Amino acid sequence: MSDNKDSWKFVHITDIHIGSPDSYRFAPVWNEQWETAAEQIKAINPELVLVGGDITRDGDTEPEQFANSIKHLNSLGIPWHLIPGNMDTGNKIADRPGARMPERNDLELNITEENLQIFKAQAAPFPWTFTHRDIRFSGCYEIIKDTDLPSAQELDTFLAGLSELPSADHHIMLNHYPLFVDDIDEPHYDITKEDDYLAWYFGVDPEPRKNLIKAYKASGVTHVLSGHIHCRRPPFTIDGITYIKGASTAMKQFGDRWPDGDDTLGFQVFTVTPDGIEFEFHPLTRISTRTDGWGPGGHPQGAKRAARKS
Ligand SMILES: [Fe+2]
Repeated sequence: MSDNKDSWKFVHITDIHIGSPDSYRFAPVWNEQWETAAEQIKAINPELVLVGGDITRDGDTEPEQFANSIKHLNSLGIPWHLIPGNMDTGNKIADRPGARMPERNDLELNITEENLQIFKAQAAPFPWTFTHRDIRFSGCYEIIKDTDLPSAQELDTFLAGLSELPSADHHIMLNHYPLFVDDIDEPHYDITKEDDYLAWYFGVDPEPRKNLIKAYKASGVTHVLSGHIHCRRPPFTIDGITYIKGASTAMKQFGDRWPDGDDTLGFQVFTVTPDGIEFEFHPLTRISTRTDGWGPGGHPQGAKRAARKS
């Protein structure tokens, strides 16, 4: 428990990407980074841990990885609350092949309802909401908003229900994809243009973004925590909502996107006091330099489907 009864902590981890030696690809270094993060989190002893998705390397094609990742989360000995990420369930839905064909076929990487249901059964149910010490915590897989997936209808029902709940001192919303990459009013990015591709891949499109923010405001959301990019930025507040892009514990990405971007591996620590919520980034205290392992990186075409069949 917290040392001070008026002050307590919660932690946000995301993109921990625990892999499996039984997989067609494996990076032991990512698992070692997680072990370091877990030691640090246990030493902090927060009252709860928010897990922002991508708990596996390839849960979307190898759902047997979920049991191992859940075992690692349970080993913290701290209550945790989880939403899926794209490597667990599939990517943001593309309606055409993107600029990275042929090595990456976005159409075959799309989220499927089957994968969402597997995640709910084998990892954790979502969306969810609860209160802890007068703070509301909610988690949903934002990237399915306004899609044709049955789970998107469930999300709409969930969001409508959130607005009916009693207000809390703070309302923390856990997401995987950031609602925007650079700017809250950024336009639709073109998946077929290489210059736009990563911005398309990393963020939510304008229409679902607008609808999510509207729903979040209607339910008094004060903080939106996201992952997916593997590069953090200092928190910033727009129109009453503080957006926090979180770091990965496993692997760096996109570190050159923003002058204030920082792809250092680590996690987010929040201290709640009577005066508000203080935020602190905790870098990993030990960085593994292992280079062994096997298999392709990224989103190789065909290899993932082949993995599921084997
Ligand atoms: Fe990730």
